[in-house]
Amino acid sequence: MAHALQDGFGRTIDYLRLSVTDRCDFRCVYCMAEDMRFLPRQQILGLEELYRLARLFVGRGVKKIRLTGGEPLVRRDILGLCERIAVLPGLRELVMTSNGSQLARLARPLAEAGVKRLNISLDSARFRAITRSGELARVLDGIEAARGTGFERIKLNTVVMQGRNADEVLDLVDYAVARGLDISFIEERLLGEVGRSRGEAFCSYDEVRARIASRYALLDCAEHSGGPAHPASRIGFISPHSHNFCASCNRLRLTVEGRLLFCLGHEQSLDPRALLRRHPTDDRPLVDAIDRAMLHKPQQHDFSVGGEVQVLRFMNASGG
Ligand code: GTP
Ligand code: 5AD
Ligand code: SF4
Repeated sequence: MAHALQDGFGRTIDYLRLSVTDRCDFRCVYCMAEDMRFLPRQQILGLEELYRLARLFVGRGVKKIRLTGGEPLVRRDILGLCERIAVLPGLRELVMTSNGSQLARLARPLAEAGVKRLNISLDSARFRAITRSGELARVLDGIEAARGTGFERIKLNTVVMQGRNADEVLDLVDYAVARGLDISFIEERLLGEVGRSRGEAFCSYDEVRARIASRYALLDCAEHSGGPAHPASRIGFISPHSHNFCASCNRLRLTVEGRLLFCLGHEQSLDPRALLRRHPTDDRPLVDAIDRAMLHKPQQHDFSVGGEVQVLRFMNASGG
């Protein structure tokens, strides 16, 4: 068995976020432009190419693959891809991040295809103001379908923005707690077109935590070990601006164009698509390139807007 992938800072890389489409049936304000242009089909990886890359990364020690988008469930034949990836020897878990819009129909087939856990976006009851085109009732039905299907865990994702949904934090916690779901509150990352209004919508970890603490006693997860048979909700914070977790980063992301991104907040990348297509039957050149490229993974992200760096990729093109 080959040794695990390691980057130049001694971090073991065993988690791949694999984007299967840049398309989505929603147009969330923090993720896309309203008149988003999607990639032409010939530019995106085919299902066979996605599978080959997954197999290759698992062969290099990746233990967890998260399928992302865009919205992964709008990709045709996604279930067949899940089935094949889920049984790759050495993979510990296949998981997915979804907007929930297709789950009423697809939750059960997804679980049967081997997807173990789901993360589902839910930001607000003022649904249209954030998703521009989504229907809340469909997502809530999707969440119920997923709950009834036996996923190991379901986590909700909420990007918190001043003036849009910061006042709904407690309602969202109530909703999650009533259903035994986990929920993560996320500081918005300014990717893509960053106008003034997005910068001003920033809502900090401290503020969200204080709102929750006004109603709930927050326990560290460690204090919860050995808890009741019906698991309590876990409340998480993904706060790249105020508390980044770069020091323990174990992940790579692969965009659906076949770019291997080493960090969400940097543009450095490798181009596995070119190597895949140049060497259709020989994996060695691609594996060697991936091994060498690990040294390009930066120590930490940089999303600064006023400063020099601004990542111009939209989130849907970055793999979530
Ligand atoms: P796990 O890694 O399985 O815990 O899932 P996750 O919560 O990271 O995945 P999910 O796809 O649900 O993403 C939730 C939020 O975390 C999104 O806003 C992602 O953009 C963000 N996120 C995921 N990976 C990274 C990363 O490498 N760096 C930063 N800064 N944020 C990330
Ligand atoms: N900043 C932070 N999180 C984002 N997401 C999408 N765009 C952004 C952004 N700009 C989150 C959504 C989704 C997950 C894949 O990424 O909440 O659940
Ligand atoms: Fe679609 Fe998710 Fe982006 Fe919203 S955040 S537009 S649901 S990919």
